[in-house]
Amino acid sequence: MSAAPPAHGPLIQLEDLHKRYGEKLVLDGLTLAVRPGETMVILGASGSGKSVTLRHVIGLTRPDRGRVVSCGEEIQDLPEEALTDVRRKIGFLFQGGALFDSMNVFDNLAFPLREAGWGRERVEERVAEVLGLVDLDPVSVRDLMPSSLSGGMRKRVALARAIAVTPVAILYDEPTTGLDPITAKTINQLIVSMQERLQVTSIVVTHDIVSAFHVGDRIAFLHEGKIRFLGTTQQARASQDPLFSAFIRGGVLETNDGA
Ligand SMILES: Nc1ncnc2c1ncn2[C@@H]1O[C@H](COP(=O)(O)OP(=O)(O)O)[C@@H](O)[C@H]1O
Ligand SMILES: [Mg+2]
Repeated sequence: MSAAPPAHGPLIQLEDLHKRYGEKLVLDGLTLAVRPGETMVILGASGSGKSVTLRHVIGLTRPDRGRVVSCGEEIQDLPEEALTDVRRKIGFLFQGGALFDSMNVFDNLAFPLREAGWGRERVEERVAEVLGLVDLDPVSVRDLMPSSLSGGMRKRVALARAIAVTPVAILYDEPTTGLDPITAKTINQLIVSMQERLQVTSIVVTHDIVSAFHVGDRIAFLHEGKIRFLGTTQQARASQDPLFSAFIRGGVLETNDGA
């Protein structure tokens, strides 16, 4: 497996990030540090910049200003080619869990491994192993096409792919959105089990409060381009911040464009 994270200091550090799209200042001085081994949840209304924040961690989006340190490397100014290394260490579970529709489950999972230069036998072994990690039976699912999978199974396969090569860290973008409550619960359990079994560092972006408290060690609340609250789940429950406590009591705060 991949190199151990540094013993001290955050594994992922976002410092004073600013990001504007047209008229809209999406990130306005966002600062957040994620410690090795922890699961950080980023909560926020729809359109508040959660996905944008996550994309900065692996250089899919560049800040207008500010610093991004991922796995010990300052990446905001790195050329695209130089980001491959960081992207290999950090699995990304995209919103919607995009799989390659023209490839069966096996080839979907083998893809990042082959890209990383793994030989045939190791690929076979690793695909079976990661399917096991997400509680899927390798023999019965490996030849299935994504179109024949349920929403929950697609998420599992996408998660298996996200952890295939790496897992120093995993970034989850809305992992439970669009799933029924029972399937959502099993995905939450998987996120917890990834942390326990792989000692992985995670950032989970969600607007699902139940999920946030289930999987999070700490919760960050993104509002108007900044982290408005940061604390343990216990501190989050006790928070007196009127906006944040309204949000976690289930009030849905939509920003004006609701992206
Ligand atoms: N590539 C882009 N181009 C223009 N605007 C974008 C882009 N990505 C995100 N935005 C805008 O940034 C804001 C935050 O988006 P996003 O991070 O996706 O929100 P969410 O918190 O729902 O994940 C939205 O207003 C969205 O329209
Ligand atoms: Mg989003």
